[in-house]
Amino acid sequence: MTISEKLFERACKHIPGGVNSPVRAFDAVGTTPVYIESGCGSRILSVDGKEYIDFCGSWGPLILGHSNQEVLRAVQDTAEKGLSFGSCNPLEVEFAELFCELIPHVDMLRLVNSGTEAVMTALRLARGFTNRTNIVKFDGCYHGHSDCLLVSAGSGLLTNSISSSKGVTDKAVSEVITSPYNDIEKLEKIFAEQGDTIAAVIVEPVAGNMGLVMPKKGFLEALRKICTQYGACLIFDETITGFRFHCGAYSEIAGITPDISTFGKIIGGGMPIGAIAAGKEIMELLAPLGEVYQAGTLSGNPVAAAAGIATLRTLKATNPYSKLSELASLFGDKINTYAQENKLAVHCKTYGGTFTLFFTAQDEINNLEDVKNCDTELFAAYYRYMLDKGIYMSPSQFELNFVSAAHSRQDVETAADAVIEFLSTRIKL
Ligand SMILES: Cc1ncc(COP(=O)(O)O)c(C=O)c1O
Repeated sequence: MTISEKLFERACKHIPGGVNSPVRAFDAVGTTPVYIESGCGSRILSVDGKEYIDFCGSWGPLILGHSNQEVLRAVQDTAEKGLSFGSCNPLEVEFAELFCELIPHVDMLRLVNSGTEAVMTALRLARGFTNRTNIVKFDGCYHGHSDCLLVSAGSGLLTNSISSSKGVTDKAVSEVITSPYNDIEKLEKIFAEQGDTIAAVIVEPVAGNMGLVMPKKGFLEALRKICTQYGACLIFDETITGFRFHCGAYSEIAGITPDISTFGKIIGGGMPIGAIAAGKEIMELLAPLGEVYQAGTLSGNPVAAAAGIATLRTLKATNPYSKLSELASLFGDKINTYAQENKLAVHCKTYGGTFTLFFTAQDEINNLEDVKNCDTELFAAYYRYMLDKGIYMSPSQFELNFVSAAHSRQDVETAADAVIEFLSTRIKL
């Protein structure tokens, strides 16, 4: 038995399923979790002494790689002065100023502790602002685990084949209307029938929780147009996309201004964080100014704010985005060339520094139905092969992988070669 296996056995006695988040269970890939002891740059080290090139990056926050010196120093210096005061602190102000400078359409933000919390508050704000109830979400998008959004959700629910969660009331779910990603016609129909009841449309502007699914040309524009026409709030959930593709929000790349945006992951550089951001009119509805209540003991925590500031400042100063893009493309191109030459039912989609390897013959992946055609058993075999070769990917077909600024060309080529090796041995022509 490995040390990881022993730890997992112990964990299962006191932690449900042995994990503190279901996406960490390796059920879907037919093995047990690897326990990680440390990380440096593009590498993580398991308790069993095995080194991995890491493309999971803590599910996204670590865009600068593991143990980035600027971020570590900021955390250490801040932690030495105290971990939490439950009062105002200068770092939350500095964070807010920097954030609003980097995302010009945002006037104000409220810091929370996770993406889930940010989205939960964004919905409450949208409902408070519009005095309406219903929310539209897209199949396969994941927006955290608050009750009403656990419908047709991606990420861990998709991986574990759960359509919605037990314990979520019919009433909560009945206030959410779901629609296929990239389907403008269906959305228009929903609005034509119930437009005056809809408080918000929430979307991952680039979907990452069913694997990488890009918005089709015109999709996000249509959302903006419909929301404006019917007086509903457009919420961009940028928990993954924020600061992922440039030093700001994805909304700027799309050229669309949402009414409310939510953030997490990168903006905390590896510490727990989330943020709701919008223009003044909406943000001033939040308590203590307005009647929409939201609060948090650890919100605006100085250590998390310090890690966030250091991460955003480093991203601004170093602008690693073209490198991230080039590395992900290098990975994808190598695999796609091999797959095409050998007529294999697999392809790698990349955007910016993100990628998903889809085990399907279908080239166009536009929504959840397309993604569901993937061969998850083959994905599991691929996953175990990669682990064995020292490459750590996100453990599900329905997830994104991330290249960080700490990855080298060699890291990416090594990973692509391992994929090709797997394909050459395991997929028959
Ligand atoms: C788009 C999106 N929104 C919200 C969340 C929830 O964030 P958290 O896990 O920090 O609660 C996630 C998590 O992966 C996410 O990808």
